[in-house]
Amino acid sequence: MIKNRGIAMSLKLAATAVRENAHAPYSNFKVGAAIRSASGETYVGCNVENVAYPEGTCAEAGAIAAMVAAGETKLTEVYVIADCPSPIPPCGGCRQKLAEFGAGNVAVTLGTTDGQERATTIGDLLPGKFDAGHMERS
Ligand code: THU
Repeated sequence: MIKNRGIAMSLKLAATAVRENAHAPYSNFKVGAAIRSASGETYVGCNVENVAYPEGTCAEAGAIAAMVAAGETKLTEVYVIADCPSPIPPCGGCRQKLAEFGAGNVAVTLGTTDGQERATTIGDLLPGKFDAGHMERS
């Protein structure tokens, strides 16, 4: 069983394993995410759907919530995996969530369960991101 805090394992392995726990009875589309924090800890998340569809949450959001709940706010690496025809692109909201806690150069690997991978970064996933600077006026 995967724990949010615990044994060191590759992000790919962690994301693949936690994906099995996804609660996705409505879409039948399971997603797993694993993130490494600045301390080197691994946090995992899976999508958790709800019969009230908008209440569902993404895998990335779950992993980020686990990291923040553990007292960490900086991520250094990301892996997301699903059973897709091509490596899963994180949804728009998750790109913004990743950008909240990771620098633009943070490596993100997007994978498929049949072994395809696409290497990218948080910056490439969210060009022109909204950040705190956009709330300032001089
Ligand atoms: N999903 C994720 O978990 N992460 C993404 O980046 C894309 C979409 C989930 C949400 C929903 O449970 C299912 O995939 C289908 O959209």
